[in-house]
Amino acid sequence: MADPPKFTVEFGQDGAPPRDGRLDAPAFHRNHEAIADVLVPFLEGHTGDVLEIGSGTGQHAVALAGRMPSITWWPTDFNDNHLRSIAAWRRHANLPNLKEPIRLDASAADWQLKERGLPDSFTVMFCANVIHIAPWAVAEGLFAGAHRHLRAGGQLWLYGPFRRDGAHNAPSNAAFDESLRRQNPEWGVRDTAALRDLAQRNNLALKHTHELPSNNAILTFEQSWW
Ligand SMILES: C[S@@+](CC[C@H](N)C(=O)[O-])C[C@H]1O[C@@H](n2cnc3c(N)ncnc32)[C@H](O)[C@@H]1O
Repeated sequence: MADPPKFTVEFGQDGAPPRDGRLDAPAFHRNHEAIADVLVPFLEGHTGDVLEIGSGTGQHAVALAGRMPSITWWPTDFNDNHLRSIAAWRRHANLPNLKEPIRLDASAADWQLKERGLPDSFTVMFCANVIHIAPWAVAEGLFAGAHRHLRAGGQLWLYGPFRRDGAHNAPSNAAFDESLRRQNPEWGVRDTAALRDLAQRNNLALKHTHELPSNNAILTFEQSWW
């Protein structure tokens, strides 16, 4: 496998490597309950498929699939260590509705889902903490993929920090944005106006902004019916 591009974040680079491949993201422990409290009531009791983009360690996949047994959860990432961690968390959790992770670069023009045995169309696509730590091309690929692979009325759920129509919603997010851009000029906290515009170009519309702790949010975008 090719090395992951240098622009990405990689978990498990500090401290002793875990014995069974399960990596731990400290942020997961701070944010997973707040995310689940919004996503679970939306999906609970429904059947359908969720495609997760940039699953990282796999901890969100396990936590969310565990709370929604009637939903089939498809985790993905493009970093091989993260794919190993997702697979290890999956083995550990042993959830029948959590599928094996697949390698997916969200910026690719064709995700080749059908060819790899995945559904072609999803109820929800979920993507947490990815687009600000990746070049804008990843956001572009994500929305184009959402257009191709969300069923009519399906939703893209984006979790992270967001600038709100040109202004940061907290000094801590402004500082975070600056530090991201210092690390990599292609990274940065994304603006809701730019995301709305990108969504519109892909037949999606911003439906809701769920405000979450630590000045983060979940933005939900819905695929239009036509
Ligand atoms: C900060 S981590 C977030 C992981 C996880 N979603 C979470 O919230 O704990 C960002 C993840 O995005 C993945 N990623 C970055 N660029 C990507 C791309 N072009 N396609 C797919 N995944 C990507 C990285 O490998 C990493 O696992």
